[in-house]
Amino acid sequence: MKLTLSVIKADIGGYVGHSSVHPEVISRVREVALEGKDRGVILDVSVISCGDDIALVMTHNKGIDATEVHELAWNAFREGTEVAKKLKMYGAGQDLLTDAFSGNVKGMGPGVAEMEFEERKSEPVIVFFADKTSPSAWNLPLYEMFADPMNTAGLVIDPSMHDGFIFDVMDVYSGMTIQLRTPEELYDLLVFIGATSRYCVRAVYRKKDGEIAAVASTQKLSLMAGRYVGKDDPVLIVRCQSGFPAVGEALEPFARPWFVEGWMRGSHTGPLMPVSFSQAKPTRFDGPPRVIAAGYQICEGHLIGPVDLFDDPAFDQARQDASLMANYLRRQGIFEPHRLPPEEMEYTTLPKVLEKLKDRFKLADSVRPKLSTEGEVAE
Ligand code: F6R
Ligand code: MG
Ligand code: MG
Repeated sequence: MKLTLSVIKADIGGYVGHSSVHPEVISRVREVALEGKDRGVILDVSVISCGDDIALVMTHNKGIDATEVHELAWNAFREGTEVAKKLKMYGAGQDLLTDAFSGNVKGMGPGVAEMEFEERKSEPVIVFFADKTSPSAWNLPLYEMFADPMNTAGLVIDPSMHDGFIFDVMDVYSGMTIQLRTPEELYDLLVFIGATSRYCVRAVYRKKDGEIAAVASTQKLSLMAGRYVGKDDPVLIVRCQSGFPAVGEALEPFARPWFVEGWMRGSHTGPLMPVSFSQAKPTRFDGPPRVIAAGYQICEGHLIGPVDLFDDPAFDQARQDASLMANYLRRQGIFEPHRLPPEEMEYTTLPKVLEKLKDRFKLADSVRPKLSTEGEVAE
């Protein structure tokens, strides 16, 4: 029987501000999820957090989009919200956009990444979980993991990976998707996924047999296509070893931090810093954006783990590099390129400020640059 791995995540209240989550809130979410396990809704669950977001990592046999499983996650987040409200946590319940559950959490606020597969003889998986950034943050590492032989030696050395992979890419504005095959369509793939403000990788499949290799949480964006909803602290599931990237190949892109969108007010560019579970607390200028890697061995549908994979001195240098990159960008303050370009600021709170000033603009040719007594340029 096929196994489904579902990761459903939400921000149901921050402690302090948007930086972390209160242990009592996590406890309540875990309690409700475990009750679901006792009732047989799921086989197993592991609760992890990154910044102000909580994720339920669940295994079951009910397939993708299973109402019962989504409802369990919804109830766990709703109950957690009650605790968050009681403690007056910041933005309590912020990702639960509606009052009543209606069959599927997609479009209701939480982010979802799910995959279905036949459990292998041994099934190592990594759940990457980021805060203060968006799903397109995964574009660069997914490219490196599955299409760059300079990162993933297995693409060259392992015959079971040598054929390459298929990337499913979504245009977050139109909601359209395209599938591109690597290595033969590598340059076409990069045309799109290099444009991180518009395109994001939804899934990766092994070309040889169509096996699912990786899935990211992008559904919320697709449902709201046409009205891009901006940052959406994402999760990513990656299957590892035996025909997929080795655990170390999946982690390697994170050893060299790169810039992503998000950080303060979802309005800035910043380095994605790989951190241990205990360091997943974005404090400096509400960041810089963080990512954790939770490793599991799946055994007969049970989650053995998580192992805190970035809790390794081999990633200390990456954390230092990210801090230095953060310093360079912070020097720019509110100026681009630290601040995102105007097209992206449309999806922040800035338009409300612009609205107030819009009538003050006049055609440059019709006015002389001379200060009026009211402090405005006179006509
Ligand atoms: C970014 C984020 C924070 C908030 C910022 C302002 O994803 O969550 O940087 O945008 O702290 O928060 P409010 O508007 O709630 O005061
Ligand atoms: Mg928050
Ligand atoms: Mg968050």
